[in-house]
Amino acid sequence: MNKELRQAIIAGNWKMNKTRSEAKTLIEDLKPIAEKATCGVVICVPYTNLETAVELTKGTNIKVGAENVHFKKSGAFTGEISADMLTEMGVEYVIIGHSERRQYFGETDLTVNRRVKAALAAGLKVILCVGEMLSEREDGITEDVVELQTVAAFTGVSEEDAKNVIIAYEPVWAIGTGKTATAEQANEVCSFIRGVVAKRYNKAVADGMTIQYGGSMNPKNAAELLAQPDVDGGLIGGASLKAADFGVLLEEASK
Ligand code: 13P
Repeated sequence: MNKELRQAIIAGNWKMNKTRSEAKTLIEDLKPIAEKATCGVVICVPYTNLETAVELTKGTNIKVGAENVHFKKSGAFTGEISADMLTEMGVEYVIIGHSERRQYFGETDLTVNRRVKAALAAGLKVILCVGEMLSEREDGITEDVVELQTVAAFTGVSEEDAKNVIIAYEPVWAIGTGKTATAEQANEVCSFIRGVVAKRYNKAVADGMTIQYGGSMNPKNAAELLAQPDVDGGLIGGASLKAADFGVLLEEASK
């Protein structure tokens, strides 16, 4: 419970979608819609759209995030982007540990932890993704998996810095599949994660932490998911690519 102690945030994760001109159109469409939201509004966009997004959202309630960040400050890491490069541009958030990065790009709990620490040290707010695969849910080890991922990600992170982390619970089997966790399943795991944070830090940090659900959240199922006591908004893939759909989610999270 204690939902009033934390902010609900709807964050779009555009993934590898939208060219710059397409991004401009979407953001312009989104601005008047987002204006009415009382929840937090974040759009996490591909690197090539960050500058455009920061520019176009200046003076609005839309915050901009990146979809990943490297853990070193600089150096010979071809193709990577540092936290300082992001903050200098005016980027405020970064997604870390998304299951697509864990599945396809060799991301591990160790590299997630290193990225989290680097991002927080640079002043970014982190959207940390955790979640189980279908086989893990079927084996009954969902809680073990998310606990391990959560504890690993917070290794060496101070209580003060932990306040700049949002957790997104994204069951891998629900991402882009149209299969949503039931509202009860989502709440159960978000609540479990809050308990893990309370054990790692304390109840105040856990009560104040925004814990989102992500995985096929859309205008049809959002109301039920967002009404759950431990679900504080969502990390949205497909439905963040259409301004009207994203708008419905903002409306529901603002209730
Ligand atoms: P979908 O909303 O497309 O299922 O994606 C969820 C997600 O992975 C957000 O990070």
